[in-house]
Amino acid sequence: MSDKPRIFLTRELPPQTMDMLRERAVLTMNHEDRYLSKQEIIQGVQGVDGLLCLLTDSIDDDILAANPGLKVVANFAVGFNNIDVAAATARKIPVTNTPGVLTETTADMAFALLLDIARRVAEGDRFVRTRAWQGWGPLQFLGADVSHSTLGLIGLGRIGKAMIPRARGFSMRVLYWNRTRLTPEEENELQVTYCELDELLQQSDFVSLHVAQNDDTRHLLGAREFALMKPQALLVNTARGPIVDEKALVVALQNGEIAGAGLDVYEQEPALEPELYEMDNVVVAPHLGSGTIGTRTKMGNMAAENCLAACLGQRPPNLVNPQIYD
Ligand code: DGY
Repeated sequence: MSDKPRIFLTRELPPQTMDMLRERAVLTMNHEDRYLSKQEIIQGVQGVDGLLCLLTDSIDDDILAANPGLKVVANFAVGFNNIDVAAATARKIPVTNTPGVLTETTADMAFALLLDIARRVAEGDRFVRTRAWQGWGPLQFLGADVSHSTLGLIGLGRIGKAMIPRARGFSMRVLYWNRTRLTPEEENELQVTYCELDELLQQSDFVSLHVAQNDDTRHLLGAREFALMKPQALLVNTARGPIVDEKALVVALQNGEIAGAGLDVYEQEPALEPELYEMDNVVVAPHLGSGTIGTRTKMGNMAAENCLAACLGQRPPNLVNPQIYD
């Protein structure tokens, strides 16, 4: 019998990661391009050392209980709201994520949505493809200026911070709200202004979300918050869907309380609130934040290294529950 760790992978990852896993582990995996059911994951974890899973896999205590020998749950994502970390911690199972490697790529995506929704790129594209365009017109598809506008960042972790130089490139004023305020020196160095959340919403032309999903941030933006925003404001969400009350967002867009939204994530992925499919002032992307070949490869390699380390009895890098080693 091989002394390599046994790993169960819930969906195929980029080729470099697959090569690494095949070389260094005994790999069992889902070979189909679809989500696995809970029952299939329970079956898959039987007898393995490590579970390498995706943000679309809901890893609860039933799955953890299905294999008392499980040594790690390694998530192929920086977010880990799909894993019951408290349950894993109670069972002394390390949980890992992939921080850092997708920061710039996700900030690029947030900025792409911001520019797209401001300048109506996707909407214009759809129109041109109807073949109804009769030529340039002085009042056609007028959008919002990005340069010299005000960007409000909700959350100033890695990705939120990566938005700052991008905003700077467009001469934007940057406001931020974060659980922990930066020091005056840091604020000065980054040239950002701290605001309470309500004030940020009232002042910003663009609001971009960069907080993690947890009990404190669920529906952080709802009807009350949209009512505070400027009618010309645009919302960008590349963080997690449930941070926004999606039904309230639809109402705010319908009532003109805000002007539009660029969304990469949704409350009930892959389903959207039905009205969002029809709204021209909304750009909807299929959760592409980290979606470049280079970044997904780095995420895969990092998740694989995390998984292999824990399977071999080492403390894995990128632990989200370090308290299990106390
Ligand atoms: C993550 O890693 O949490 C991202 O949502 C993946 O794109």
